[in-house]
Amino acid sequence: MNMNDIIIKKRDGGVLSKEEIQYFVTGYTKGEIPDYQASALLMAIYFKGMDKEETYALTTAMRDSGDIVDLSAIKGVKVDKHSTGGVGDKTTLIVGPMAAACGVPIAKMSGRGLGFTGGTVDKMESIPGFKTTLEEQEFMDLVNKNGISVIGQTGSIAPADKKIYALRDVTGTVENLSLITSSVMSKKLASGSDAIVLDVKCGDGAFMENLEEARQLGQLMVEIGNSDGKRTIAVITDMDQPLGRAVGNSLEVIEAIETLKGNGPADITRLSETLAGIMVYAGGKADSPEQGHEMAKESLRNGSALEKMRLFIQGQGGDPAILEDTTLFPQHTFAVEVTSPSDGFIEKIRARQVGVASQHAGAGRATKDDVIDMAAGIYLNKKVGDAVLEGELLATVYGNDEAKAAAAAKDLEAAYEISDTKTEPRPLIKEIIG
Ligand code: URA
Repeated sequence: MNMNDIIIKKRDGGVLSKEEIQYFVTGYTKGEIPDYQASALLMAIYFKGMDKEETYALTTAMRDSGDIVDLSAIKGVKVDKHSTGGVGDKTTLIVGPMAAACGVPIAKMSGRGLGFTGGTVDKMESIPGFKTTLEEQEFMDLVNKNGISVIGQTGSIAPADKKIYALRDVTGTVENLSLITSSVMSKKLASGSDAIVLDVKCGDGAFMENLEEARQLGQLMVEIGNSDGKRTIAVITDMDQPLGRAVGNSLEVIEAIETLKGNGPADITRLSETLAGIMVYAGGKADSPEQGHEMAKESLRNGSALEKMRLFIQGQGGDPAILEDTTLFPQHTFAVEVTSPSDGFIEKIRARQVGVASQHAGAGRATKDDVIDMAAGIYLNKKVGDAVLEGELLATVYGNDEAKAAAAAKDLEAAYEISDTKTEPRPLIKEIIG
């Protein structure tokens, strides 16, 4: 077998065999296949696509490139949750404690930010003292004791994805159904859970901008998860404007806590209840997603989800006093306000542009070695459909670098579109697949 023949076969629209796909993944991970040949193959896949069997072969080859986590020492049906990524998406920090409060063990490995905002691990690290790296035994003991632990994904899980994603990121080959599916699902299938709930984002600021593409991605990921014997359910949700009001690490943790207290923004509360409800159903603790939804809502009402958050933070060395006192989080020194240029209604808030603004404020990394400013970010005072007067506050940028905060405020101004007529926000939950 040789790499040039594999590239030519895909370039000409052929179907790759399992062996050819394995040859590529193993050779590239070991450094035996150079970047230029791997790039050429990824571009051929981008244009010619892969069928379901090829995608499954790519996913399993990437899954098997590293460790497969064994969570059998944790009692119960372990349910993982993954979002394809969006701006202001702090749902893991809400649905984890909610599902745990309903009896579903949450043993989750999360990533750092791939794009312009921090990932779940970055957000958790804004909690004073919180450890995101634990020994495997300690991780499992915490889940058995508290019902929840979330740690950073180690480099030994699907190392092929790490290398291939880094190459895709700089060769214009990220936005392809089979490549996204194999990237996400190889990590999920290696992480040891029994069931997987996927939040597939759709709209500006998401990989899939339209509903049809998001549906195809959801369907393919569900088929691949089920082919591997893991119950997989995908929920397609809107990402045309940022989720909730807070974007940026500590700001998002504070909003997650408010949501667990029952005081969160309507969109993030609704999405969290839906996702947690499906997790409760997939974990066998409810007979239907509807019953799961009711149980998830009740966990917010009766305070049990907030109590799980307290145990979760305490278990990983964090200071649970942050639940009552947000001044214990890293603090900002600068706040720049963005005001409305006219009277009207908010027509659009471009999620991608808000993400870029938050990165410029210091909340995300431009390169993998950048250090995140945990206090940096954006608070959106106005959301789509809200009325606004000229000079009224639209949003605030926070950070510790005055020039960066001012630059981010300029980006943010460009994210807002104001019109004379009132627009209703797009439906948040679009479809459930699986
Ligand atoms: N998230 C991933 O982990 N991989 C992708 O390719 C896209 C989103």
